[in-house]
Amino acid sequence: MLLRNYDNFGAHSGNLVAVNGSIIQRYRGNPVQVRVNDTAVDNARLNNTRVTDGSTITVSNGSDVTEPHTTKTVTIAHGTDVHDLGGVIQYVSRRGSDGLKEEWTGHLSGQTVTHHIIKQPINTQVTALTPRPAGKKVIALTFDDGPSQYSDAILDILKQQHVKATFFDLGAQSVQYAKVEQRMVKEGHQVASHTTTHQYLPGLSTTELRNEITRSFTALNRTSGVKTRVMRAPYGAFTAQDWQRSGDLIDMNVLWDIDTLDWKMPGADAIRKTLVSNAHNGAIALMHDGGGDRSQDIAALPGIISDLKKQGYQFVTVDQLIAMSQH
Ligand code: NI
Repeated sequence: MLLRNYDNFGAHSGNLVAVNGSIIQRYRGNPVQVRVNDTAVDNARLNNTRVTDGSTITVSNGSDVTEPHTTKTVTIAHGTDVHDLGGVIQYVSRRGSDGLKEEWTGHLSGQTVTHHIIKQPINTQVTALTPRPAGKKVIALTFDDGPSQYSDAILDILKQQHVKATFFDLGAQSVQYAKVEQRMVKEGHQVASHTTTHQYLPGLSTTELRNEITRSFTALNRTSGVKTRVMRAPYGAFTAQDWQRSGDLIDMNVLWDIDTLDWKMPGADAIRKTLVSNAHNGAIALMHDGGGDRSQDIAALPGIISDLKKQGYQFVTVDQLIAMSQH
């Protein structure tokens, strides 16, 4: 009675608000809150409350009431931060993870809002390194575009010289030359992916790009049992955007720092000279065992190995080179 006569002493009920905070109906929230001598009065008992002389009555605004709503837990996708692609080995230095948020959808307003973040997403980090193992004199020979009809001759030389190498194989070739693929693995060489069909990856749609990568890993696994997430992008072309589009599929993109230019077929002596004169500790040398006539590579390889052995080099796979570079 007192409240009604004095218009709630200027206080008012709360509002009925939407999930996004906008008012749906004014004063349809919780009623005013009355306190007598600092003690809150239950609104249901307001009319039965007697107030004695000298009492202090305070009336404050009622609180808002949020409309009825549905709550839902939703994934927040994580991104990829590419810090540096200026090294021979580009790799995932930290694997990211998705976040989670709670969303509210109002039954009256139809609005959906993020109520709160349960877990922040963590971005994947990509960076690069150029291996230079301290106190070593090592080199990694790598062969691309195989396996092919030339690979067995290369494997014979490597076996005879007790040299382990790394083969970046095409998924399609590994299916066609499954026996050779199996031999590479059996003889202790590292096998990694050079994608499925040797496309220029930055020019592909995201679906095509991802297929080029995943199908090659599947093909290598089916033909030789190898499980790898290591890749060499054809032409070395793999941009920051490509990492963002497919970095969840691979751990590493391995480039090279000695290019023999063997694909120009400059003659076995030129291939040998280019490789040996550019040799240095931690080098990754690019040759080919597929993608064309590789007879010059086969002719050059024994001389390359003997020259490097004379200079005191040890031959390592890319995996071994990386393991030596991490302290
Ligand atoms: Ni290639």
